[in-house]
Amino acid sequence: MSDEWFFAGKRAIVTGGASGIGRAVVTQLVRLGTKVWSLDVSEQDDGPSPLLVPATVDLMDGAATQAWLDDVAGAEPIDFVVNAAGVSPLRETMKRVVGIDFLALHRICHWAAPRLSPGGAIVNVASVAGIYEAHTEVAQTLITAADASLAADPAGTAGQVAFFDTARSTIDGPGIAYAYAKRAVILLTMRIAAEVAPRQVRANSTSPHAAATPMHYAIKRNEPEMYARAKMTSTFGGRWSSPDEQADVVVFLLGPRASYVSGVNLVVDGGWHAAMQTTNPELAQH
Ligand SMILES: NC(=O)c1ccc[n+]([C@@H]2O[C@H](COP(=O)([O-])OP(=O)(O)OC[C@H]3O[C@@H](n4cnc5c(N)ncnc54)[C@H](O)[C@@H]3O)[C@@H](O)[C@H]2O)c1
Repeated sequence: MSDEWFFAGKRAIVTGGASGIGRAVVTQLVRLGTKVWSLDVSEQDDGPSPLLVPATVDLMDGAATQAWLDDVAGAEPIDFVVNAAGVSPLRETMKRVVGIDFLALHRICHWAAPRLSPGGAIVNVASVAGIYEAHTEVAQTLITAADASLAADPAGTAGQVAFFDTARSTIDGPGIAYAYAKRAVILLTMRIAAEVAPRQVRANSTSPHAAATPMHYAIKRNEPEMYARAKMTSTFGGRWSSPDEQADVVVFLLGPRASYVSGVNLVVDGGWHAAMQTTNPELAQH
């Protein structure tokens, strides 16, 4: 059954909308009749559309992101926010990983939480890398530092400097930074869910594993050993998900059939985590 009746005429911000999971979310929402501001550092040449408004913004630039939120996105009521922008930890710096995957998302959520219309929703795309309790303490440190950075300097980048100083003194390298950043996304989303519930707004996250997007192809091409360790054999039929299979879950969480779902992190991994955890020795994968 189509949920067009619910989505038509609504308005959404989607980050990372130029590629992969974010692009699939943009396409699905536009087809359902939602007007989408698709924010990305990459240019999006989609031609004119009344429902798709591309925006070229670098999420590493806190001042530019804040200005875009206040000046452009703030001009109309917003119903949905999907944070899908991210960078893989491979060939990236620790600063860019926590800056894009967590700090920018924190800024956007902080802006959106009090503004979203009742019935609205936030979905943050985390990762299976973020589901581990062991990363909670550092993730909480990142959340506290991000809160302080925004309180000290809501519109600019000065507060970001203090955040990155904290990240540098706490995190050792981009690989583990990705896990901490995604853990922080999951925990922050739970906190926001509690904050916005009285306003009939919901907030959830998803944790994909191995979606066939440019980010994932880069791992397969450039880091074959890491790719092998990802154990694709333990997902459905040993295959990756498509970006649409991830977007389906994001749109479900935005939509009317998830109207009583909030504060949840939905793992979308084709059974990968279950196969890692199972106590059945015949099924266990290590
Ligand atoms: N693909 C996977 O296997 C996988 C697995 C787990 C989690 N994820 C997460 O899913 C999300 C989407 O990833 P994807 O696989 O679709 O990747 P992708 O590379 O296809 O898309 C990411 C998008 O984010 C944009 N982006 C990167 N830096 C930016 C910046 N500074 N400012 C604005 N936009 C920026 C990119 O330009 C790109 O369009 C990410 O948060 C990623 O961590 C993906």
